[in-house]
Amino acid sequence: MQSIGQIKEVCVLGGSGFVGSSIVTRLDAAGYQVKVLTRRRESAKHLLLLPHVRVVECNVLDYKALNRELRGADAVINLLGILHQSRRNTFNLIHQQLPAQLARICIDLNIKRVLHMSSLRADKDAPSQYLRSKAAGEASLMAEKNRLNITIFKPTVIFGRQDRFINLFASMIKFLPVILLAKPAAKFQPVWVEDVSACFLSSLENPATFGQTYELAGPKVYTFRALIQIIMAVLHIHRPIIGLNDRLSYLQAFFMEWLPIKLMSRDNVRSMEVDSVSDAPFPTVFDRTPSALETVIPQYLVNQTSRGNYDRYRRHAAR
Ligand SMILES: NC(=O)c1ccc[n+]([C@@H]2O[C@H](COP(=O)([O-])OP(=O)(O)OC[C@H]3O[C@@H](n4cnc5c(N)ncnc54)[C@H](OP(=O)(O)O)[C@@H]3O)[C@@H](O)[C@H]2O)c1
Repeated sequence: MQSIGQIKEVCVLGGSGFVGSSIVTRLDAAGYQVKVLTRRRESAKHLLLLPHVRVVECNVLDYKALNRELRGADAVINLLGILHQSRRNTFNLIHQQLPAQLARICIDLNIKRVLHMSSLRADKDAPSQYLRSKAAGEASLMAEKNRLNITIFKPTVIFGRQDRFINLFASMIKFLPVILLAKPAAKFQPVWVEDVSACFLSSLENPATFGQTYELAGPKVYTFRALIQIIMAVLHIHRPIIGLNDRLSYLQAFFMEWLPIKLMSRDNVRSMEVDSVSDAPFPTVFDRTPSALETVIPQYLVNQTSRGNYDRYRRHAAR
């Protein structure tokens, strides 16, 4: 078993992304040597100035390349994930095969500590392929829990300055006269990215979290419709919301799958068949009270309001 203070170098897969950037920033501030593996160095350029961070281009799906880059690491954090699959990048490849390959390499290289990001409601019988593939990834890692010190995190939808969920709907509210909302009664319990990344850091060298799986959710449950209404209130914009029934929700998603920008797929709608809500309280082992959405999103959505624009113009004019 690893003891506290043994971990010096941490390798992060998916470190350039929304959640990854928050985790990498915390690892850096805590003094760990961090190696971020990315497909394109450009995607991680915002991390390059962090003093303990090295960004390395690597195709993590290539066994040999990943094996080479993981050599010397004391711990690995896997944040790889996709919401929409393509012909090349399937859920099976990213969520299932990669964690299995990662487990084999860690055993080979004697890297004991592995932190892995899954998703709330991931289950082998879940309604969506996304959730089923996440469950398969969890299972292949946990199968090695006698040889590896694994911790799995299962967050619900995550919000924060660079999130896709809240920012996407904020943009849609600004540009669309009416919101046609799929699955308006689906429930979410959003969790702040800083709460999530704090848990990863707190868990890294805490043996009490080895072999454990943690659901991470915020303090409040909202319907999808209520979430959109909160975003509208923050933006001071009102739009009528038309809730779609199940058939129309799938039909809308079917048409959206043909758009060049991936907004919502039928698999995303299937994920909403189960409420993204946790039955458990926030894990006490992390000694943290999670923040509510209403207290955080005004800090980053304010730039999208007319008041925010006005403040920006004033700052530009140095007034
Ligand atoms: N955001 C949420 O609300 C939420 C909720 C629950 C669970 N999660 C899970 O949390 C993790 C991080 O989510 P996120 O929101 O931070 O995602 P993100 O911003 O899209 O970042 C995902 C990262 O995965 C890497 N990646 C994506 N496709 C890849 C591929 N085909 N090959 C190699 N690398 C690939 C990207 O790295 P490069 O582009 O640098 O290669 C990127 O940095 C994911 O596992 C996600 O499923 C997120």
